[in-house]
This record gives sequence, structure tokens and C-alpha cells, in this order.
Amino acid sequence: PAFFFEAVFPSSLVSGYFILLLLEVLAASHHFYTDKEEVVLWMNTVGPYHNRQETYKYFSLPFCVGTKKTISHYHETLGEALQGVELEFSGLDIKFKEEVMQTTYCDIELDKPKRDAFVYAIKNHYWYQMYIDDLPIWGIVGEADENGEDYYLWTYKKLEIGQNGNRIVDVNLTSEGKVKLVPNTRIPMSYSVKWKKSDVKFEDRFDKYLDPSFFQHRIHWFSIFNSFMMVIFLVGLVSMILMRTLRKDYARYSKEEEMDDMDRDLGDEYGWKQVHGDVFRPSSHPLIFSSLIGSGCQIFSVSLIVIILAMIEDLYTERGSMLSTAIFVYAATSPVNGYFGGSLYAKQGGRRWIKQMFIGAFLIPAMVCGTAFFINFIAIYYHASRAIPFGTMVAVCCICFFVILPLNLVGTILGRNLSGQPNFPCRVNAVPRPIPEKKWFMEPAVIVCLGGILPFGSIFIEMYFIFTSFWAYKIYYVYGFMMLVLVILCIVTVCVTIVCTYFLLNAEDYRWQWTSFLSAASTAVYVYMYSFYYYFFKTK
Ligand SMILES: *[C@@H]1O[C@H](CO)[C@@H](O)[C@H](O)[C@H]1NC(C)=O
Repeated sequence: PAFFFEAVFPSSLVSGYFILLLLEVLAASHHFYTDKEEVVLWMNTVGPYHNRQETYKYFSLPFCVGTKKTISHYHETLGEALQGVELEFSGLDIKFKEEVMQTTYCDIELDKPKRDAFVYAIKNHYWYQMYIDDLPIWGIVGEADENGEDYYLWTYKKLEIGQNGNRIVDVNLTSEGKVKLVPNTRIPMSYSVKWKKSDVKFEDRFDKYLDPSFFQHRIHWFSIFNSFMMVIFLVGLVSMILMRTLRKDYARYSKEEEMDDMDRDLGDEYGWKQVHGDVFRPSSHPLIFSSLIGSGCQIFSVSLIVIILAMIEDLYTERGSMLSTAIFVYAATSPVNGYFGGSLYAKQGGRRWIKQMFIGAFLIPAMVCGTAFFINFIAIYYHASRAIPFGTMVAVCCICFFVILPLNLVGTILGRNLSGQPNFPCRVNAVPRPIPEKKWFMEPAVIVCLGGILPFGSIFIEMYFIFTSFWAYKIYYVYGFMMLVLVILCIVTVCVTIVCTYFLLNAEDYRWQWTSFLSAASTAVYVYMYSFYYYFFKTK
């Protein structure tokens, strides 16, 4: 009964929370307007063109705010807050289908510090981002003349908005009104709004931001095709090698069976059968090992579900919805983590299952949040907009403690009770077998390093596209490709780990659990090194 209470009470809380989240997601996506309804121009961030990840609040530059002071509603989702979206009201008065002639909305009193700030921004090619009805708009702050002595600010925002029925489907911004930055002058900022009928369908309104010639380039198709060929080759190779060698091994062992004990003791016995009394020995550090395996199962299910959702629903059209979805799915799949981690730990004879559950539940969140909070301190130091608000940090911690942990507990209990019994086909010897000397390339460390090369080879072109969308102003939208690559990666990883385990066991080394795990995990190290390469050689 205690278990039952522990399991049911938090999950009812959790489902209530999820329903709330779901309602929030549904409520956010209407985008219908009536005539003369308020349309909000949100100012988001400003930052250098060549570094998309470096952003500051729009009003960290001394721009001025329009006259309109209040708006009817505003809300920010968790994903937005974590991604550094800082929407601030522009103060511009815009109403649906109402034209606005060029109107001055405020003046900048340009003193020396303000001029310096603008000059710095113009020198570094700053540009800013705004949103109308969730459509992003980019504009450049200013311009320097050729010899770099005079600096000009664009002061006139000319907005052209395309409407289709009662929805906004297109926005164009033209910057005009170049004004030279002279200290101690007044610079008037102005805007105008023009409404046009447009035939663009609401569902297609993000198409103009996508870059099919980049993402659906022939090279992308070729690379997928290439990886596919590799998969077929690899699977064929693995199955052939294993079939042949295993059949040969079996033949040898069954011949030995017929010999009497004397012959067997003198015979040249070697190979994987010698370690049968040790392969089911618990791995070293079973607590960490089962926590890693559990977390891995969870990450895999999260990736799968999020990619499928992104394929069905164009998640890139809503700011931060990708991240919100990922957090939501991560929390919801916590039982997977508990189930696989907990059952593996039980099978390995672990006794401190509560400790294992805590470590398993908080391994990934702690690493991700630790990194994020560390970056956060840097962001706060530089006043970058990426700084996560305190409330959001609290929200994330609450999700960890009140959603992820209870769900993990449910999974752990299920896992321990349903599949926690070690039902190995043969007994574990009381005394561990000594591991014989072997060639250097059969050492676990070497196998681990080599294991990651093939999986990395099958995904690195996709990583190029993902990095490009991270550092350049491109929206990643080809989740079908990503799905294919995920499938390819899984197959290649499975093949590679099977081969690695076979070699290791054949060398009569029974420490296969960690080697198998790490030989696949080393792919991540290669991806990490590739990100360094990309950062230093492909970005500005
Ligand atoms: C925005 O610009 C594009 C390309 O110049 C044009 O096709 C489109 O009609 C414009 N939209 C509006 C609303 O003016």
C-alpha cells in the first residue's frame, strides 16, 4: 500500500500539471484577428550578425520606446525563457488592416555615450529581431561609410504586412531614413504600416524563411544514401562474420565435448566459451552503469518522440516550442529511465536501489542544468539576453523534483518487480577468471576509441547541417532526414557494439558491459571534437 500511495499520488499531480501544459500549448496557437484588433510588434534581441548565439535585449541599445504603453496580453513559455527570448513591447500602435502613414513615434536624445553604443553596434554589424504574430523580422541597426568615420542609423521602419482573410501571413521590413550619428542631436524614429492582401496560406507562411536549396541540396541526399549503403554493407559484414565464426566456434566446442577431461585440459582451449562463467558477473560500478543505461533508454525515447512530433507538427513555427516539447517529453518518459535502470541494477545484484534511482533520475538533468547555469553566469556577466530568469530556474528545478523523480520511482518499482530477477543461462563462477595478456588492439580502451568512428562517420554530414542551423540564420526543418539518420545511427551502433563485444570476449576478457557501452558512447566524443572544428573553421 505504501508503494501504491507513493506511485499514485505524485502521478495524479503530474497528470494535472501535464494537462495544464497541454492547454497552454493549445491556447498559444490561434492567430486570428478581427478588423482593428491590436497587433503587437515585439522587440526581441539585438546582436552581431556573425554570431547568432550572442544576443542582447533590444533596448540594451539606447533605442526609444513608442508612445503606446499597455497591451492586452502577454505570456512567455518555458522554452522561450530558456532560449533567451526577451520580448519587449515596442510601443508602436498597429491595428489589424489599418494603414499608418509615416509617423514619428519617439526621439533619441543622442548624447556621447549613446552615440558610442550605436557606433559600437554598427561597427560589429549588429542587427535586431522583432516579431509580429510570431513571424520573425530582422533589421539592420545602421551602416558605416566606406572610410569608417561616419556612422549612420536607420530610423524609419517601413512595415508591409500581408493578410489573408483574418490572419497575418507575411511581413516585410524595409529600413529607410539614414541619419548620421552626430553627438548632441535629436534623432526622430518613425514607422509606417501598410496592409496588403496576400495569397500565402497560413500554414505556408514560414516557407519563406526556410532554405530548401541548402537543406535539400543534392549533397544531403547523397550523404543519406551513402550512409544507407554503409549500413547495408555493415549489417551484411557483421552477420556474415558472426555466422561463420560462431558456426566454426560451435563446431570446435562440440568436438571438444566428445574428448575426455584429460584431453580437454591439455587441449588448446581459447575463445569466448572460456569466459562463460564470468560474462554475467556484475559490471564494475553497477550503480553508475545502470543509471547510464537507464538514462540512455530515456534519451533515445525522447529523441524518437520529439523527432516524430517535429515531423508531424512544424515545431519551428512557434518560438521555443521545440525546447518546451523536449522538456515535456523528457519528463513524461522518466518511467523508461527508472524501468531500465532499476531492473538492470536489480539484475546485477545491487542493493542500494534508492540511491541508484536518485542518480539515474538526476544524471542528465544535473549535467544539462549544470552546464546551462554555468553559461548563465557568463551571460549575466555580459548582460546577454540568454540569461535565464530566476523564476524559470525554479520552474526547471520543480519539474525535476516533482515530475521526473516520482515518475522515475514508478518506473524503478515496476522494473525491479517485473524484470529484476537475474535469469542468466549459466552460473557465475565464484572466483573471477584471470584475464590473459592480449594484443594491444584488443585492450578495452582501444576498442572503445575505435568503436565510435563508424557511427560518427554515418552522422557527421547531418551534424554539419545541425551546426549550421545553430550558428547561422537558418531554420532547421528537415526532420525527416534527421529521423533517417537516427535510424542509421542506431543500426550502425548496434553492429559496432556487437563486433566489439565479440572481439573482447574472444580475447577472454569478460569485462564487456562497459566496453560495449563506451564503444558506442565514444561517438559523442567525436561529435564534440567535430563541433570544435566547426566552430573554429566554419564560423566567423
Ligand atoms: C514581401 O517581399 C516579397 C519579396 O520581395 C514579396 O514577394 C511579398 O509580396 C512582400 N510581401 C508584402 C506583404 O509586401
